[in-house]
Amino acid sequence: MKKIILLGAPGAGKGSQAAKISEKYNIPHISTGDIFRKNIKEQTPLGNLAKSYIDKGQLVPDDVVIGLVESRLKESDCANGYILDGFPRTIPQAEALDKVADVNVVINLDVPFDIITERLTGRRVCICGATYHVSSHPGDTCDRCGKKLIVRDDDKPETVKERLQVYLRQTEPLIDYYRNKGLVRDVKGRDTVEQTFADVVEVLDKI
Ligand code: AP5
Repeated sequence: MKKIILLGAPGAGKGSQAAKISEKYNIPHISTGDIFRKNIKEQTPLGNLAKSYIDKGQLVPDDVVIGLVESRLKESDCANGYILDGFPRTIPQAEALDKVADVNVVINLDVPFDIITERLTGRRVCICGATYHVSSHPGDTCDRCGKKLIVRDDDKPETVKERLQVYLRQTEPLIDYYRNKGLVRDVKGRDTVEQTFADVVEVLDKI
């Protein structure tokens, strides 16, 4: 059973790697960001609440996120493991997760901020969940479903700056939190998606 956390700054490539891990190991990809974006699109109360934080580059309050993930982990498809992408993001979230899950490994995707900024400002996404970058996918339609690609609202340069500051203040301390538990494996996330995935698989196949 693989219970995996993917840590990394905004734009480090967590979503891109989590999708590939989910496919290879047949475990669900749980992205709190994707859950919020789906709710925003459907204009649910959760979506309206989350939008007011996400648009400013800030984190959604811990109690909201913790409740959401706790109930998601109780679903039957999580019985054989899962990959958490974007959760936990604060120490209180990690402490709450400790009470309900025995995580096997924490992969820390390490990417310098100048590369991250370039990745986020060039990101294009589809409502089906697919993610591209203008440098490798210059067209504006999705290869998977043919819909028009869009820029995420929180990928505007000023919001990206705030997200990176929030990461440094609230999420980066999790690396030491999990290092102290002996769970962290560092992966150099600055290589291509394929090379990074090969490095991730090398780590996961040892578990
Ligand atoms: P979320 O959606 O989780 O955003 P994030 O952590 O900021 O991460 P991103 O989705 O921006 O980047 P990523 O690391 O997944 O990179 P990607 O693979 O897309 O959260 C959004 C918001 O929701 C948060 O700001 C917060 O407000 C809220 N939220 C979510 N979870 C929360 C929580 N637990 N608590 C509180 N609030 C929460 O790649 C980025 C780009 O780079 C793409 O264009 C991709 O094609 C490209 N790329 C990826 N890898 C490579 C590579 N190796 N080489 C070249 N290009 C690459």
